[in-house]
Amino acid sequence: MSTLTYKAAYYNDYITDVNDIKVGEVTVASALGAKQIRIEVHSASVNPIDWKLAKGGLKAFFSSTFPSRLGYDVSGVVVAVGPEATKFKVGDEVFGSLDAKAFPGAIAEYAETDESGIWHKPASLSFEQAASLGVAAKTAFEALLKTKAGPGKSVFVSAGAGGVGTFAIQFAKHYFKVDKVATTVSTQKVDLVKSLGATDPVDYKKDDFTKVLKQEYDIVIDNTADINAVDILKPNNNPHSQIISTVSLAIFKEQDSRLKDLEIDYEFFFLDAAIKGFAEAVNELLDAGKLQITIDSIYEFTEQGVRDAITRSIDGHATGKIIIKVKN
Ligand SMILES: NC(=O)c1ccc[n+]([C@@H]2O[C@H](COP(=O)([O-])OP(=O)(O)OC[C@H]3O[C@@H](n4cnc5c(N)ncnc54)[C@H](OP(=O)(O)O)[C@@H]3O)[C@@H](O)[C@H]2O)c1
Repeated sequence: MSTLTYKAAYYNDYITDVNDIKVGEVTVASALGAKQIRIEVHSASVNPIDWKLAKGGLKAFFSSTFPSRLGYDVSGVVVAVGPEATKFKVGDEVFGSLDAKAFPGAIAEYAETDESGIWHKPASLSFEQAASLGVAAKTAFEALLKTKAGPGKSVFVSAGAGGVGTFAIQFAKHYFKVDKVATTVSTQKVDLVKSLGATDPVDYKKDDFTKVLKQEYDIVIDNTADINAVDILKPNNNPHSQIISTVSLAIFKEQDSRLKDLEIDYEFFFLDAAIKGFAEAVNELLDAGKLQITIDSIYEFTEQGVRDAITRSIDGHATGKIIIKVKN
């Protein structure tokens, strides 16, 4: 069997410390699956799922085999296509994310993935910006797709300055065209979320968002697993108010009978990497000048760089996306 060896971030067992993450050579089969492509990675970006998975926190949902590679979000250039892959040709510049239900591996010199979660990179974006449009942006878009978001509606997005939050605010306001977007954000980041389209930012360091926002919202996009978000939804709304959580089903399920009385629907989901309409929405907003990509920090593709990038994500205070620049 013909093989290919390249540098990738990986770990040999569930990690207890970021220093358990290695960057070194891995060997893969040269041959691709039918619908797979191989991308020469220019940039990758980090998501909480990377370290949650590495720490074994998602065992109930995903099985890992070791050594396990790291990273889902990618931008780069296609260097090989599988026998039935039709979306791309060698040389195309692309961005997207690897399938969360398959194995990760974007933080590497090359990444192999099904072509369905990957799209042509808009020419106006750098590779760093394009790598930002992965798991977080897709999750924000898919969460809103699950709702009745549209003109006349009001949406609350928790953690508006995070990866999911920065995109959810923009999709809600500029693509789904809702009337109001409230969000929770810390003091120094209020101006940022306003520039993204938030109409009602609440500084969570100073104010209790449930007291400020009252029961005036139709939709919650929950990124913090906060049951208190129930208190800002319109009770007995027609159509029903909705909570879409990216983090937890359990905390809402615990209050199932109360939520039924209030006629509030709730749902938790894992993103679909190939979510339909995502690339079109991104291109539409970019063309209209209404998609701002917020980059928190850029790290080098070294063992220390990857460990520092993951540490930054674990800290939970990134503003937008954390990037690992693989190719200069
Ligand atoms: N289900 C799925 O498929 C899926 C997909 C993507 C993400 N997720 C989950 O969604 C969550 C958010 O992901 P992410 O990528 O947006 O994370 P992230 O980028 O790491 O979020 C960091 C941001 O959260 C803010 N924040 C932290 N605590 C806050 C609070 N109590 N109130 C308001 N803001 C707060 C921080 O702001 P400050 O620094 O100002 O505190 C920071 O800007 C994670 O738990 C992730 O695992 C799930």
